[in-house]
Amino acid sequence: MPVVHFIDINRKVECIPGANLRDVAMKSGYSVYHGVRKLLNCQGEGLCGSCQVAVVSGRTMPRNETEKKRLTGVKEPWRLACQVQVLDNIAISTRQEMVEQYAAKDRARAARIAQAHAVQEKQHQVAEGRKAAEPEVAAAAAQAKLAEEEAAKAGQDAKAARQVAESVSDGPAKEAAKKAADKAHDAASAAMHAASEAKEAAAKAKAAQDKGDVEGAHAAEEKAKKAEAKAHAAEAEAAADLKQAEEAAAKAAPAQKEAAEAAPSETTEAATAEAGEAKKAPKATKTAKSTAKSKTDTNG
Ligand code: FES
Repeated sequence: MPVVHFIDINRKVECIPGANLRDVAMKSGYSVYHGVRKLLNCQGEGLCGSCQVAVVSGRTMPRNETEKKRLTGVKEPWRLACQVQVLDNIAISTRQEMVEQYAAKDRARAARIAQAHAVQEKQHQVAEGRKAAEPEVAAAAAQAKLAEEEAAKAGQDAKAARQVAESVSDGPAKEAAKKAADKAHDAASAAMHAASEAKEAAAKAKAAQDKGDVEGAHAAEEKAKKAEAKAHAAEAEAAADLKQAEEAAAKAAPAQKEAAEAAPSETTEAATAEAGEAKKAPKATKTAKSTAKSKTDTNG
């Protein structure tokens, strides 16, 4: 059973579906007329236009032809009570200020609904964005891991190049090996820097995913990819520099070996010479003593 709420007298009345609104109002002690119209009206024929009420809440059928004719220039929600059938719960009033109050409430409710809908839509978009950004985030993390591995390899190459350079004896080969080791060190530094960039890009991709920002995640993944390429190139450079250091060391190896072999014989020769001098020494002393004696005898 539909309920009519007469706001002006704060009364709610049940009626049968399809009941005439003017009749329900009259039976409920609510007058839809003002002043002399309480006595002078068309008794529900739709001719006088004096039974105007505002249906401020609830659904009704649209204005019929009689209402359209009598209510020309009168805006919704004003209706002729004698022409309205009550089909649903409605609230009515004959006061304009009440119409405005309900209209304001309706606007506020519509705004709340729109806001809730917008929030819901935003949440949905973020959830969709997070899901769509999953591959981007995974790819960025993989690029960062690769870059880290490249940087570690470059570091090992640089360390090895330094050790090779230190093992070479002084000379042009050592200079060449040292130069290659310095270059390998620079390449390793570049690889580490690139790895750091890739890691930062991976973190940005994750942050973008949290916001549902697929484009942001994609851009970050692209940066991670570029950083990984830089780390890869730097690692290749460090490996080439290590090779150069090894080649320089290899060229110097025969000369170093020869020098190492020559060193003991020189020592032996020196020792032999020393020994020879030592042997001559007593003879020299003896000769000196003899010379001195003959000098003494002559003088004497
Ligand atoms: S009573 Fe006259 S138009 Fe409704």
